[in-house]
Amino acid sequence: MTRRLVTELCGLELANPTMLAAGILGYTESSMKSIIEAGAGAVVTKSLGLEPRNGYPNPTVVQVDCGLLNAMGLPNPGINYFSEELKELKNTGVPIIVSIYGFSSKEFAKVAETAVSLGADALELNVSCPHVEKGGAEIGCDASLLAEVVGEVKKRVDRPVFVKLTPNVADIGAMAGAAVEAGADAITAINTVKAMAIEVETARPLLANKFGGLSGPAIKPIAVRAVYDVYRTVDVPVIGCGGITSWQDVVEFMLAGASAVQIGTAIAYKGLDIFKSVTRGINTYLKKKGYKNIKEIVGLAHKF
Ligand code: DHB
Repeated sequence: MTRRLVTELCGLELANPTMLAAGILGYTESSMKSIIEAGAGAVVTKSLGLEPRNGYPNPTVVQVDCGLLNAMGLPNPGINYFSEELKELKNTGVPIIVSIYGFSSKEFAKVAETAVSLGADALELNVSCPHVEKGGAEIGCDASLLAEVVGEVKKRVDRPVFVKLTPNVADIGAMAGAAVEAGADAITAINTVKAMAIEVETARPLLANKFGGLSGPAIKPIAVRAVYDVYRTVDVPVIGCGGITSWQDVVEFMLAGASAVQIGTAIAYKGLDIFKSVTRGINTYLKKKGYKNIKEIVGLAHKF
Protein backbone atom coordinates (compact mmCIF):
# COMPACT_ATOMS: atom_id res chain seq x y z
CA MET A 1 0.00 0.00 0.00
CA THR A 2 1.47 3.37 -1.00
CA ARG A 3 0.80 5.77 1.88
CA ARG A 4 0.66 8.70 -0.51
CA LEU A 5 -2.46 7.22 -2.10
CA VAL A 6 -4.38 6.05 0.95
CA THR A 7 -7.72 7.80 0.84
CA GLU A 8 -10.02 8.43 3.75
CA LEU A 9 -13.59 8.80 2.55
CA CYS A 10 -16.39 9.34 5.07
CA GLY A 11 -14.57 7.17 7.62
CA LEU A 12 -13.71 4.40 5.12
CA GLU A 13 -10.08 3.67 4.35
CA LEU A 14 -9.27 3.02 0.69
CA ALA A 15 -5.81 1.80 -0.32
CA ASN A 16 -6.06 4.09 -3.33
CA PRO A 17 -8.68 6.54 -4.66
CA THR A 18 -10.06 4.32 -7.45
CA MET A 19 -13.40 2.56 -7.14
CA LEU A 20 -15.37 0.26 -9.41
CA ALA A 21 -18.36 2.29 -10.69
CA ALA A 22 -21.87 0.92 -10.18
CA GLY A 23 -23.32 -1.22 -12.93
CA ILE A 24 -20.13 -2.83 -14.20
CA LEU A 25 -19.20 -6.31 -12.99
CA GLY A 26 -20.67 -5.54 -9.58
CA TYR A 27 -23.11 -8.44 -9.57
CA THR A 28 -21.41 -11.47 -8.22
CA GLU A 29 -18.94 -12.22 -5.52
CA SER A 30 -16.47 -13.65 -8.05
CA SER A 31 -16.55 -10.66 -10.39
CA MET A 32 -16.15 -8.25 -7.47
CA LYS A 33 -13.28 -10.33 -6.11
CA SER A 34 -11.50 -10.02 -9.46
CA ILE A 35 -11.93 -6.23 -9.30
CA ILE A 36 -10.45 -6.21 -5.79
CA GLU A 37 -7.53 -8.36 -6.93
CA ALA A 38 -7.05 -5.98 -9.86
CA GLY A 39 -6.37 -3.19 -7.35
CA ALA A 40 -9.57 -1.16 -6.92
CA GLY A 41 -9.63 0.83 -3.67
CA ALA A 42 -13.37 0.15 -3.23
CA VAL A 43 -16.17 -1.56 -5.09
CA VAL A 44 -19.65 -0.28 -5.88
CA THR A 45 -22.19 -3.01 -6.65
CA LYS A 46 -24.74 -3.01 -9.46
CA SER A 47 -27.85 -1.13 -8.30
CA LEU A 48 -30.11 -3.33 -6.18
CA GLY A 49 -33.78 -2.84 -5.39
CA LEU A 50 -36.38 -4.40 -3.14
CA GLU A 51 -37.60 -6.98 -5.66
CA PRO A 52 -35.82 -8.88 -8.43
CA ARG A 53 -36.11 -7.21 -11.86
CA ASN A 54 -35.52 -8.64 -15.32
CA GLY A 55 -34.67 -5.34 -16.96
CA TYR A 56 -35.35 -4.44 -20.59
CA PRO A 57 -35.17 -6.75 -23.62
CA ASN A 58 -32.10 -6.64 -25.91
CA PRO A 59 -30.43 -4.68 -27.34
CA THR A 60 -29.45 -3.06 -24.05
CA VAL A 61 -25.95 -1.82 -24.94
CA VAL A 62 -24.61 -0.23 -28.12
CA GLN A 63 -21.21 1.19 -28.90
CA VAL A 64 -21.18 4.77 -30.18
CA ASP A 65 -18.31 7.17 -30.94
CA CYS A 66 -16.27 7.69 -27.76
CA GLY A 67 -18.60 5.77 -25.47
CA LEU A 68 -21.24 3.22 -24.69
CA LEU A 69 -24.96 3.76 -24.70
CA ASN A 70 -26.93 1.49 -22.40
CA ALA A 71 -30.42 0.93 -21.10
CA MET A 72 -30.46 -2.26 -19.08
CA GLY A 73 -33.54 -1.37 -17.03
CA LEU A 74 -31.91 -1.97 -13.65
CA PRO A 75 -31.85 -5.79 -13.89
CA ASN A 76 -30.93 -7.24 -10.50
CA PRO A 77 -31.68 -10.18 -8.22
CA GLY A 78 -33.15 -8.00 -5.43
CA ILE A 79 -31.35 -6.95 -2.27
CA ASN A 80 -32.24 -10.09 -0.28
CA TYR A 81 -30.74 -12.41 -2.86
CA PHE A 82 -27.51 -10.48 -2.58
CA SER A 83 -26.67 -11.53 0.97
CA GLU A 84 -24.46 -14.47 0.02
CA GLU A 85 -22.42 -12.34 -2.38
CA LEU A 86 -21.81 -9.71 0.28
CA LYS A 87 -20.88 -12.17 3.00
CA GLU A 88 -18.05 -13.55 0.90
CA LEU A 89 -16.56 -10.10 0.36
CA LYS A 90 -16.56 -8.98 3.98
CA ASN A 91 -13.01 -10.08 4.79
CA THR A 92 -11.22 -8.51 1.82
CA GLY A 93 -10.47 -5.24 3.62
CA VAL A 94 -11.80 -3.34 0.60
CA PRO A 95 -14.94 -1.28 1.30
CA ILE A 96 -18.07 -2.57 -0.41
CA ILE A 97 -20.49 0.18 -1.33
CA VAL A 98 -23.94 -1.09 -2.19
CA SER A 99 -25.72 0.88 -4.90
CA ILE A 100 -29.47 0.96 -4.30
CA TYR A 101 -32.54 2.26 -6.07
CA GLY A 102 -36.21 2.52 -5.19
CA PHE A 103 -39.50 3.93 -6.44
CA SER A 104 -40.29 5.91 -3.28
CA SER A 105 -38.43 7.23 -0.26
CA LYS A 106 -39.89 4.45 1.91
CA GLU A 107 -38.69 1.83 -0.57
CA PHE A 108 -35.21 3.38 -0.71
CA ALA A 109 -35.10 3.32 3.10
CA LYS A 110 -36.13 -0.34 3.25
CA VAL A 111 -33.49 -1.39 0.71
CA ALA A 112 -30.91 0.71 2.55
CA GLU A 113 -31.69 -0.92 5.87
CA THR A 114 -31.44 -4.40 4.36
CA ALA A 115 -28.16 -3.59 2.59
CA VAL A 116 -26.63 -2.41 5.87
CA SER A 117 -27.91 -5.47 7.72
CA LEU A 118 -26.18 -7.61 5.08
CA GLY A 119 -22.87 -5.84 5.66
CA ALA A 120 -22.67 -2.87 3.27
CA ASP A 121 -19.83 -0.54 4.31
CA ALA A 122 -21.61 2.39 2.67
CA LEU A 123 -24.52 3.02 0.34
CA GLU A 124 -24.73 4.84 -2.95
CA LEU A 125 -28.20 6.06 -3.83
CA ASN A 126 -28.92 5.74 -7.54
CA VAL A 127 -31.28 8.67 -7.96
CA SER A 128 -30.00 9.22 -11.46
CA CYS A 129 -30.72 6.32 -13.83
CA PRO A 130 -31.66 8.29 -16.95
CA HIS A 131 -34.57 6.23 -18.20
CA VAL A 132 -36.41 4.24 -15.50
CA GLU A 133 -39.80 5.75 -14.75
CA LYS A 134 -40.55 6.97 -11.21
CA GLY A 135 -37.17 5.88 -9.81
CA GLY A 136 -33.81 7.15 -10.97
CA ALA A 137 -33.44 10.60 -12.46
CA GLU A 138 -37.05 11.57 -11.80
CA ILE A 139 -35.91 11.73 -8.17
CA GLY A 140 -32.52 13.27 -8.92
CA CYS A 141 -34.11 16.07 -10.99
CA ASP A 142 -36.49 17.14 -8.21
CA ALA A 143 -34.73 18.76 -5.25
CA SER A 144 -37.53 18.18 -2.73
CA LEU A 145 -38.05 14.53 -3.72
CA LEU A 146 -34.29 14.02 -3.62
CA ALA A 147 -34.10 15.52 -0.11
CA GLU A 148 -36.98 13.30 1.02
CA VAL A 149 -35.24 10.13 -0.23
CA VAL A 150 -31.88 11.05 1.32
CA GLY A 151 -33.56 12.04 4.60
CA GLU A 152 -35.52 8.76 4.86
CA VAL A 153 -32.42 6.70 4.17
CA LYS A 154 -30.30 8.66 6.66
CA LYS A 155 -32.95 8.14 9.36
CA ARG A 156 -32.67 4.38 8.96
CA VAL A 157 -28.95 3.65 8.53
CA ASP A 158 -25.76 4.50 10.35
CA ARG A 159 -23.37 4.06 7.41
CA PRO A 160 -22.08 6.69 4.99
CA VAL A 161 -24.58 7.55 2.27
CA PHE A 162 -23.25 8.66 -1.11
CA VAL A 163 -25.72 10.23 -3.52
CA LYS A 164 -25.06 9.69 -7.24
CA LEU A 165 -26.36 12.63 -9.22
CA THR A 166 -27.54 12.97 -12.79
CA PRO A 167 -25.94 15.53 -15.10
CA ASN A 168 -29.32 15.95 -16.82
CA VAL A 169 -30.30 18.98 -14.74
CA ALA A 170 -29.88 22.74 -15.11
CA ASP A 171 -27.96 23.14 -11.83
CA ILE A 172 -26.20 20.09 -10.40
CA GLY A 173 -24.75 22.21 -7.59
CA ALA A 174 -28.26 22.95 -6.34
CA MET A 175 -29.14 19.23 -6.39
CA ALA A 176 -25.97 18.44 -4.46
CA GLY A 177 -26.92 21.16 -1.96
CA ALA A 178 -30.37 19.61 -1.44
CA ALA A 179 -28.85 16.15 -0.94
CA VAL A 180 -26.24 17.37 1.54
CA GLU A 181 -28.74 19.41 3.51
CA ALA A 182 -30.79 16.21 3.84
CA GLY A 183 -27.75 14.37 5.20
CA ALA A 184 -25.73 13.01 2.24
CA ASP A 185 -22.18 12.17 3.32
CA ALA A 186 -20.68 12.39 -0.18
CA ILE A 187 -21.77 13.20 -3.71
CA THR A 188 -20.93 11.01 -6.70
CA ALA A 189 -20.89 12.99 -9.93
CA ILE A 190 -22.00 11.90 -12.49
CA ASN A 191 -24.28 9.12 -13.65
CA THR A 192 -24.73 8.59 -17.40
CA VAL A 193 -25.98 11.29 -19.75
CA LYS A 194 -29.40 10.67 -21.30
CA ALA A 195 -28.87 9.89 -24.98
CA MET A 196 -30.03 7.88 -27.99
CA ALA A 197 -28.80 6.45 -31.30
CA ILE A 198 -30.78 5.62 -34.47
CA GLU A 199 -29.84 3.15 -37.20
CA VAL A 200 -30.00 5.01 -40.52
CA GLU A 201 -30.89 2.09 -42.83
CA THR A 202 -33.89 0.98 -40.83
CA ALA A 203 -34.71 4.25 -39.04
CA ARG A 204 -34.99 2.29 -35.78
CA PRO A 205 -33.71 3.48 -32.44
CA LEU A 206 -30.82 1.12 -31.62
CA LEU A 207 -31.75 0.43 -28.01
CA ALA A 208 -34.90 -1.57 -27.31
CA ASN A 209 -35.77 1.12 -24.75
CA LYS A 210 -35.01 3.87 -27.34
CA PHE A 211 -33.32 6.11 -24.71
CA GLY A 212 -30.32 5.16 -22.66
CA GLY A 213 -27.38 6.50 -20.68
CA LEU A 214 -24.13 7.54 -22.38
CA SER A 215 -20.86 6.69 -20.61
CA GLY A 216 -17.19 6.70 -21.58
CA PRO A 217 -14.75 9.38 -22.81
CA ALA A 218 -17.54 11.33 -24.57
CA ILE A 219 -18.91 12.46 -21.20
CA LYS A 220 -15.66 13.23 -19.35
CA PRO A 221 -15.73 17.02 -19.80
CA ILE A 222 -19.36 17.07 -18.63
CA ALA A 223 -18.34 15.10 -15.54
CA VAL A 224 -15.34 17.31 -14.78
CA ARG A 225 -17.56 20.40 -14.98
CA ALA A 226 -20.11 18.73 -12.68
CA VAL A 227 -17.46 17.81 -10.10
CA TYR A 228 -16.14 21.39 -10.20
CA ASP A 229 -19.66 22.77 -9.67
CA VAL A 230 -20.49 20.37 -6.84
CA TYR A 231 -17.13 20.95 -5.10
CA ARG A 232 -17.69 24.68 -4.91
CA THR A 233 -21.27 24.28 -3.65
CA VAL A 234 -21.09 21.68 -0.89
CA ASP A 235 -18.73 20.77 1.90
CA VAL A 236 -18.67 16.97 1.63
CA PRO A 237 -16.33 14.77 -0.43
CA VAL A 238 -17.04 14.52 -4.15
CA ILE A 239 -16.50 11.23 -5.97
CA GLY A 240 -15.77 11.79 -9.66
CA CYS A 241 -17.22 9.47 -12.28
CA GLY A 242 -17.57 9.68 -16.05
CA GLY A 243 -15.21 8.73 -18.85
CA ILE A 244 -12.02 8.07 -16.89
CA THR A 245 -9.55 5.99 -18.88
CA SER A 246 -6.12 7.17 -17.68
CA TRP A 247 -4.25 8.50 -14.63
CA GLN A 248 -4.29 11.95 -16.23
CA ASP A 249 -8.09 11.80 -16.20
CA VAL A 250 -8.05 10.95 -12.49
CA VAL A 251 -5.73 13.86 -11.72
CA GLU A 252 -8.01 16.16 -13.74
CA PHE A 253 -11.03 15.08 -11.66
CA MET A 254 -9.06 15.64 -8.46
CA LEU A 255 -7.99 19.12 -9.51
CA ALA A 256 -11.70 19.82 -10.14
CA GLY A 257 -12.50 18.65 -6.60
CA ALA A 258 -12.85 14.86 -6.51
CA SER A 259 -11.43 13.05 -3.47
CA ALA A 260 -11.87 9.68 -5.17
CA VAL A 261 -12.99 8.43 -8.58
CA GLN A 262 -15.06 5.64 -10.08
CA ILE A 263 -14.10 3.71 -13.19
CA GLY A 264 -16.61 1.72 -15.23
CA THR A 265 -16.76 1.84 -19.01
CA ALA A 266 -12.96 1.92 -19.37
CA ILE A 267 -12.86 -1.65 -18.08
CA ALA A 268 -14.59 -2.67 -21.31
CA TYR A 269 -11.95 -0.83 -23.35
CA LYS A 270 -8.81 -1.44 -21.32
CA GLY A 271 -9.48 -4.42 -19.08
CA LEU A 272 -8.96 -4.76 -15.36
CA ASP A 273 -5.35 -3.54 -15.48
CA ILE A 274 -6.71 -0.02 -15.47
CA PHE A 275 -6.93 0.12 -11.66
CA LYS A 276 -3.23 -0.62 -11.17
CA SER A 277 -2.01 1.46 -14.10
CA VAL A 278 -4.02 4.49 -13.00
CA THR A 279 -2.87 4.12 -9.39
CA ARG A 280 0.79 3.89 -10.47
CA GLY A 281 0.39 6.96 -12.66
CA ILE A 282 -1.16 9.12 -9.93
CA ASN A 283 1.56 8.07 -7.51
CA THR A 284 4.32 9.01 -9.95
CA TYR A 285 2.62 12.36 -10.63
CA LEU A 286 2.34 13.20 -6.92
CA LYS A 287 5.96 12.24 -6.32
CA LYS A 288 7.23 14.23 -9.30
CA LYS A 289 5.28 17.30 -8.19
CA GLY A 290 6.40 16.96 -4.56
CA TYR A 291 2.93 16.35 -3.06
CA LYS A 292 2.75 14.24 0.09
CA ASN A 293 -0.75 12.98 -0.51
CA ILE A 294 -3.84 13.24 -2.71
CA LYS A 295 -5.52 15.80 -0.45
CA GLU A 296 -3.00 18.39 -1.61
CA ILE A 297 -4.34 18.37 -5.17
CA VAL A 298 -8.08 18.05 -4.50
CA GLY A 299 -9.78 21.19 -5.80
CA LEU A 300 -6.52 22.86 -6.83
CA ALA A 301 -8.05 24.19 -10.08
CA HIS A 302 -10.38 26.41 -8.03
CA LYS A 303 -7.58 28.80 -7.12
CA PHE A 304 -7.49 30.14 -10.67
C1 DHB B 1 -28.92 1.74 -16.00
C2 DHB B 1 -28.85 2.36 -14.77
C3 DHB B 1 -28.13 3.53 -14.63
O1 DHB B 1 -28.02 4.20 -13.47
C4 DHB B 1 -27.45 4.04 -15.71
O2 DHB B 1 -26.75 5.16 -15.57
C5 DHB B 1 -27.53 3.43 -16.91
C6 DHB B 1 -28.27 2.28 -17.06
C7 DHB B 1 -29.73 0.53 -16.22
O3 DHB B 1 -29.72 -0.43 -15.43
O4 DHB B 1 -30.43 0.53 -17.21
